[in-house]
Amino acid sequence: MPRTLTGIKPTGRPHLGNYLGMIRPALDLARSADGDALFFVADYHALTIAPGTAAQLRERVLDIAATLIAFGLDTDRNILYRQSDLPELGELTWILGCSTPKGLLNRAHAYKAAAADNVAQGRDPDHGVGAGLYYYPVLMAADILAHRAQAVPVGRDQRQHVEIARDVARSFNRAYGPVLVVPEAVVDERVMTVPGLDGRKMSKSYGNQIPLAAGPDEIRRLVSRIVTDSRAPSEPKEPDTILELYRAVAPQADADDLERRYREGGVGYAEAKDLLADAIERLLAPARRRHAELMADPQGLEDTLARGAARARASAAPTVQAVREATGLGRA
Ligand code: ADP
Ligand code: TRP
Repeated sequence: MPRTLTGIKPTGRPHLGNYLGMIRPALDLARSADGDALFFVADYHALTIAPGTAAQLRERVLDIAATLIAFGLDTDRNILYRQSDLPELGELTWILGCSTPKGLLNRAHAYKAAAADNVAQGRDPDHGVGAGLYYYPVLMAADILAHRAQAVPVGRDQRQHVEIARDVARSFNRAYGPVLVVPEAVVDERVMTVPGLDGRKMSKSYGNQIPLAAGPDEIRRLVSRIVTDSRAPSEPKEPDTILELYRAVAPQADADDLERRYREGGVGYAEAKDLLADAIERLLAPARRRHAELMADPQGLEDTLARGAARARASAAPTVQAVREATGLGRA
């Protein structure tokens, strides 16, 4: 069975899109696979985004770790660690970058999007772009290749970065021999891009998200913000953001039923929003208490991450050693 690995950036409160698009499929895969599964909090990657304070970053790392555990990550069976507890990733990133064609990074979408945005605003393409954002995919390749991961569960928008990791591995192997395992992205195609409250992709960058830690009142308040037209309950309606979100969180039969009532007429937006808020609450409530308990014991979380780090370093060590040997770095 394949060795799976995935990471999540601690750049804000994790939201429903992160859960349905990435966290849940990755946890399902970890449960069904007999192979090892590694999960990490990508705090090095978080530095590519406008930084908050040091205390904030540490808090967010713990929040992500607590979220993963609260939603079912088994830290005995699987390995959960903080990326920056593996400083050898910096070394691997450098080495891999040297056999990676620069043009590959020009095409990476995180960088391309920032450059395109600058051009649209009439600025230099590299305005405000840190070298770290440009190098982001090489670090991500190091994350994956260090552990010889075969399967990398990610949301759709991260698929390209995993493709780049494949190219990085192949370039290295072409130059130095078959040292690295070429990974594969696992994207759950059944999971659509989860829409946010304004109908665009749910994303921290758009401020349209439903945080996983939201309580029932916050969920209800956020759902009430979804904009609707003025059709009366009796009028037929086209599927909209409410229905799309409901489909993402409710059992299929319930979603089919609501869609039928939309199309036939006979359901108002207020009722649909109530159904949606209840379904989100049912999905999130079980993890909420566990998450709060975990966050109330930061030392306990740190201990868990430290245990994970020791296992992750042991997992990465043979690859780093093999790469040093193949390239001629260090003593023979
Ligand atoms: P954000 O857009 O909020 O900054 P990230 O880029 O940190 O989210 O995404 C973390 C993971 O969650 C990625 O694997 C990504 O594909 C997935 N993801 C994020 N938003 C969504 C969404 N709206 N629908 C499905 N998956 C998503
Ligand atoms: N770039 C990913 C994101 O923004 C996070 C990440 C970093 C990752 N390293 C990874 C995901 C390695 C999978 C494998 O969501």
